[in-house]
Amino acid sequence: MEGFAQLLREARGPYFFSSFPSFLFSSFGGNDGPSLPQRGQYRPGPGLHPQSADMIFTSLPLRDKIFYKIIHIMSSLIQVQNLSKIYDNEGVKTTALSNADFRIEKGEFVSIMGPSGSGKSTLMQILGLLDKPSEGKYFFEGRDTTTFDDDTLANFRNKKIGFIFQAFNLLPRTSVYENVELPLLYDEEPENGKNKGKIMAALQAVDMEHRVNYFSNQLSGGEKQRVAIARALVNNPDVVFADEPTGNLDSKSGLRIMKILQDLNETGHTIILVTHETYTAEHAKRILYLKDGEIIADDPVKNRRFAHNGELLK
Ligand SMILES: Nc1ncnc2c1ncn2[C@@H]1O[C@H](COP(=O)(O)OP(=O)(O)OP(=O)(O)O)[C@@H](O)[C@H]1O
Ligand SMILES: [Mg+2]
Repeated sequence: MEGFAQLLREARGPYFFSSFPSFLFSSFGGNDGPSLPQRGQYRPGPGLHPQSADMIFTSLPLRDKIFYKIIHIMSSLIQVQNLSKIYDNEGVKTTALSNADFRIEKGEFVSIMGPSGSGKSTLMQILGLLDKPSEGKYFFEGRDTTTFDDDTLANFRNKKIGFIFQAFNLLPRTSVYENVELPLLYDEEPENGKNKGKIMAALQAVDMEHRVNYFSNQLSGGEKQRVAIARALVNNPDVVFADEPTGNLDSKSGLRIMKILQDLNETGHTIILVTHETYTAEHAKRILYLKDGEIIADDPVKNRRFAHNGELLK
């Protein structure tokens, strides 16, 4: 067991475990209830079918089950356990989130859906390390974020996470270039020589290079959101959180944003999208449903929608 403990001490994230057989990650037996959102998400590959993996897992000795369970937590991009958020305003308590339990793997595209007030933004703020849960655990790349100090949180947010909001949140009277540059200015080790290349590449990804010298207030809503996406991308984050990114846009601009998010996902970014619209949510591969702060369903999208140059293909 000491060998295993050493292995875990040295582990730094999911990449460490990437050499483990894929079936170890595909399923974990039948007793995990709602914490197994991946079951319907099995992607065919060289590994075993989940049912076979279940049979193998069930037959393992308890010690090995515990070991692989720990590996499983550490291999997920995001894992939350019994996550709750209770706001306390001068004694008035509001439970915005209760006992959330799920995992999100690297490369997924997940929508978080639910009616107004169901806790979507609360959950996204916690997952994006902008807020802390009242109870429960949140592991990001296998690390328990509830133990992070403020510097570590800020560093993770800046390096690994990109945000897109409904209201764009661009700095007014500031150029497109400077808005996209902003996350790079927080960098501890600035690579000034490389900043321009990064900024132009991010603008190119959203087809906005031609507006690089415009001020943000000279752009249309759809253009503002594309610049906001470029800003979210400029540090090449592992995961992009988008809270109602199409909420303030007409349907054509909205589809263009969804196309960008789908393309980003195709190139390896994990996307977590908050929306209250089924139509928008169905551009993801999986939907988590929230109601009154509880996750009431977690399903793969059966007929996924694909946005294509502002038109709906399917
Ligand atoms: N700072 C706060 N203090 C007290 N209660 C809050 C606070 N922020 C949110 N809430 C409450 O928590 C619940 C969840 O809010 P949240 O913003 O997460 O909902 P949402 O699903 O994002 O809704 P919408 O679709 O309207 O954006 C709501 O009842 C809200 O009133
Ligand atoms: Mg919200």
